[in-house]
Amino acid sequence: MIMMESVEYVVNHAGQRLEILKGVDLVIKRGETVALTGPSGSGKSTLLALVAGVEHPTSGRIRVDGVAYHGLSQDDLARLRRRRMGIVFQDFHLITTLTALENVALPLELANIPDAMKQAREMLDRVGLLSRANHRPLEMSGGEQQRVAIARAFVAQPALILADEPTGNLDLETAKRIMDLLFQLIQGWRTAMLLVTHNPELAARADHHYRLTSGTLQKIASQGNPF
Ligand SMILES: Nc1ncnc2c1ncn2[C@@H]1O[C@H](COP(=O)(O)OP(=O)(O)OP(=O)(O)O)[C@@H](O)[C@H]1O
Ligand SMILES: [Mg+2]
Repeated sequence: MIMMESVEYVVNHAGQRLEILKGVDLVIKRGETVALTGPSGSGKSTLLALVAGVEHPTSGRIRVDGVAYHGLSQDDLARLRRRRMGIVFQDFHLITTLTALENVALPLELANIPDAMKQAREMLDRVGLLSRANHRPLEMSGGEQQRVAIARAFVAQPALILADEPTGNLDLETAKRIMDLLFQLIQGWRTAMLLVTHNPELAARADHHYRLTSGTLQKIASQGNPF
């Protein structure tokens, strides 16, 4: 599902060359979940942005669902992102002027799917929020907003979910419920997931756990095979 090969990401900042990612290799198979941990500033969000095609590697190769990124235009990458990925952020990133239902329907409408509202309603029901369908984000709790964001990420049945600290802004109890929901949806649909988290318990639930330190990736554990 994801293949990163010798991926480097270097930026020039105030005349200084900053190596953010130094030769990252990562493979995630269809239906597999990978947790990514690491200190603040180690490059986790950057790695996700590269997989999403929002940032572009300085060198190395990235392929998602069989599509090589090299040479693709911004439009091609945006289309790929819309068709094959769902993205969940720490701070939800919902559109504040749209209702919960309209936020969830958006990816389907962008893809010109005829019964977008019906499918969005079903998805909202799956995350237990049908009763909040007509609420706008600011009229919902943090946990509710994140459930809407998850419904939006899953509604088009993407092959890949990218999640960047999706429970970072929630209390422990709510965070646990959100994570149960994420893993439940992933398993039901055999969706692959790359999950950035600071929570070691959560990382242990993924099939594989990697740690990013100063731009270098290291495998910490695999399910049933810690090492
Ligand atoms: N365009 C840029 N110019 C300069 N520095 C950058 C740029 N983009 C990212 N960085 C730096 O790259 C490093 C990695 O950032 P990134 O956001 O990927 O870290 P992170 O691991 O997600 O951290 P956190 O856990 O705090 O979210 C940071 O030190 C950041 O300041
Ligand atoms: Mg980050």
